[in-house]
Amino acid sequence: MPHAKTPEAMFRLDEKRVFITGGGGGIGRAAALMFAAFGAHVVVLDRDAAAAEAVCREVANAGGAASAFALDVTDEAAVLAVFAQAERVAGGLDVLINNAGISIRRPSTELALEDWNRVVSVNLTGLFLCSRTAARSWIGRGAPGAVINTASIMSYSGGGLHPNISYQTTKAGVVNLTRTLAVEWAGNGIRVNAVAPTWVRTPLIEPLMADAGQMNTIRSLTPLGRLAEPEEVASAMIFLAGPASAMTTGHVLAVDGGYLAR
Ligand SMILES: NC(=O)c1ccc[n+]([C@@H]2O[C@H](COP(=O)([O-])OP(=O)(O)OC[C@H]3O[C@@H](n4cnc5c(N)ncnc54)[C@H](O)[C@@H]3O)[C@@H](O)[C@H]2O)c1
Repeated sequence: MPHAKTPEAMFRLDEKRVFITGGGGGIGRAAALMFAAFGAHVVVLDRDAAAAEAVCREVANAGGAASAFALDVTDEAAVLAVFAQAERVAGGLDVLINNAGISIRRPSTELALEDWNRVVSVNLTGLFLCSRTAARSWIGRGAPGAVINTASIMSYSGGGLHPNISYQTTKAGVVNLTRTLAVEWAGNGIRVNAVAPTWVRTPLIEPLMADAGQMNTIRSLTPLGRLAEPEEVASAMIFLAGPASAMTTGHVLAVDGGYLAR
């Protein structure tokens, strides 16, 4: 049993190597800074190399340890090569945060197949590729591991603010991918959980934040009456990554201000 010695140690991540996809922006950036503050060596992975480097510098300036790599999670060969290289640089891999995600908001009748495929490849296939690569490494070494996926309140909802079929569908898929891998890999000591955020103040929802009417609707749909901040999602990830959640797997933790409780 991975019992920590003190209550505080239940949340510490000292010497853990934490890979964060989409770590160059929004929730991923907040997670990188918070995981580093809890003692982890953070590996920032993003298709935007400059953004990944910038977050890496922010972590270092705050006194943390980080490395940055350019990675498009939809590129199988790149996932294999970059994970291998990043494991060499960081000295291993303990926690994978599948956070990269995109949204293409269009009415279903106007959504091009290439846009549908793009969202599926980032939001779903990317999670599969990165999780499979991490699990091969853990199982090959007989090492424990933890995966944290980024689902959404839209995993459980048909939406309503704007048409977004590929996002709602793929985020629903993330929930059952989480449960399925949790069951399959539990015997290998690998835990797989997810967070399901409400609307979070990041570039992903800039068009919504620019629309006062939409913001009022969001507030009225959310019992706590506001957007989430990226750090509020990152802190849920901290719980799911460490000893505090050692008996938790296959779970989706809503960070939603009560949206799903209504
Ligand atoms: N912001 C929200 O309201 C909200 C709500 C629920 C869930 N989420 C989910 O949280 C996650 C992070 O979203 P965010 O709001 O921080 O978005 P964001 O757009 O601010 O950041 C996403 C990051 O992922 C990177 N990225 C995109 N495609 C990639 C790819 N193929 N390979 C590697 N990196 C890639 C981007 O470069 C960017 O740095 C996503 O999975 C998103 O669906 C966001």
